[in-house]
Parts: sequence; structure tokens; C-alpha cells
Amino acid sequence: MKYMVGNWKMNQTKAEIEIFFKETKIPAQTKYEAWIAPQALHVTLCQSLAKDIKIGAQNCHEKDSGAFTGENSPQALKDLGAHFVLIGHSERRAIYKEGHELLNQKTAHALKTGLKVIFCVGETLEERNGGKTFDVLKTQLDLGLKNITDWNNLIIAYEPVWAIGTGVTASPAQAEEAHAFIKKHLQRNCVVLYGGSVKPDNVKELMSCPSIDGGLVGGASLKAQDFSALCAACA
Ligand code: PGA
Repeated sequence: MKYMVGNWKMNQTKAEIEIFFKETKIPAQTKYEAWIAPQALHVTLCQSLAKDIKIGAQNCHEKDSGAFTGENSPQALKDLGAHFVLIGHSERRAIYKEGHELLNQKTAHALKTGLKVIFCVGETLEERNGGKTFDVLKTQLDLGLKNITDWNNLIIAYEPVWAIGTGVTASPAQAEEAHAFIKKHLQRNCVVLYGGSVKPDNVKELMSCPSIDGGLVGGASLKAQDFSALCAACA
């Protein structure tokens, strides 16, 4: 199975969400499952409006309950019907300083709770220019996925940080090289999504690469027209 996953980040009002689900059209005959990660506050609303789109979250805590003011419990997300959660998005790593050990705990716990996990990895521009891309990916995978064995419920997303929200997309050759490295390093043909400025006009070329199993899309997943176009382009 392949996946087209929208990451709405901290965007979308209630009214915009209602319009999105009213207007989004997913092709009936498609190899791609459509998933959306709204803000956790909107999971219930999205669940009630989504017909052929699975709803998840963008982050969760590494425990189910306790004195953690302001956090989102994986158990609560599961109770609301969330299907999956993103772990280790570069914005969580860079802005909220989430490190390998914490991401490993979050991944293990979300899987145990019954959520599917999209574990995100990717290098910065400085790391790429310094020839460190594969070292960075290796470290993020080895430490973040330490002792994780539930591969039926685990998806990797390769998102080069320099391509996220910048309009600069990795070339199909650059993305394919990184995806092939990830599968080789993990010694399995796991699902690896590409993320970083995926748009209706570049999605087909990226998704036709042999090691790319879908997209993780920020900006172009916010509008029904664009998300429908992404799903239609690679149906
Ligand atoms: P973008 O974001 O598509 O806006 O580059 C991707 C992501 O952060 O997952």
C-alpha cells in the first residue's frame, strides 16, 4: 500500500476544515490511502467529517497519563479514533529539542497504544553540504528506532529539512538515493514516504521513483483542491 499524508501543522480553522472535507475528492480506484494529521484539538471534528481519509495526530507524549500539563496522551488520541501519529518531525526536533531517546520512547509507546507511527528523519542543508546526509539518517534511525520491531505499524518519512516549507524540493534522484539508503540500512523493504515541498506539479515525478512509497505533505495538503490533485496525480 502507498500513502498520501497531509500534515496540517498548526493550521486550519473549524470553517476551513468543514470546507476541506466537503470539497476533497479521493479517486475511488487508487493505490494510495489518504491520511490527514490535523491539530490534536481537531481530531474529533475531522473524524466526524472524513469519509475516505484516515485521521491522525502530529505528536504525542511518551506516556498515557500523569502530571504533564498541556501534553497529548497517545491513549486519548486512540480513544478519539486517531489512526496514526507523526513522531520526530523536524519541527519537533529543532524547535522543541526532541532528542533521539525521547523519540524512541514516544515511538515505542504510540505503537504499544495501537497507533501507527510515521517516524520522520532528514538532514539539514548544512549536513547535506558537509557530506553527512547518510550519517545523520543512520543515527536518527538507529537511535530513534532502537528495539522497535513492530514493522507492520511503522512508516518512515524522509524529509530533508532544507526542503520543508521552502518550495525547494529534493530532486527525484536525491530523494530516491536517500530512500534506497534507508531501506538498505534497515534491511527491509519498509514503507518510506517523501516529504518536503511536495506539490501537485512535482508529485507524479517523485512518486514514480521505485523506493518512494508515498508523500508527507504540509502546505499543499491544506486546500481541498491541492490535496485532491495530489491524490489524483498518483492514483
Ligand atoms: P511542506 O511540509 O510540504 O510544506 O514542505 C512537509 C512537512 O513538514 O511534513
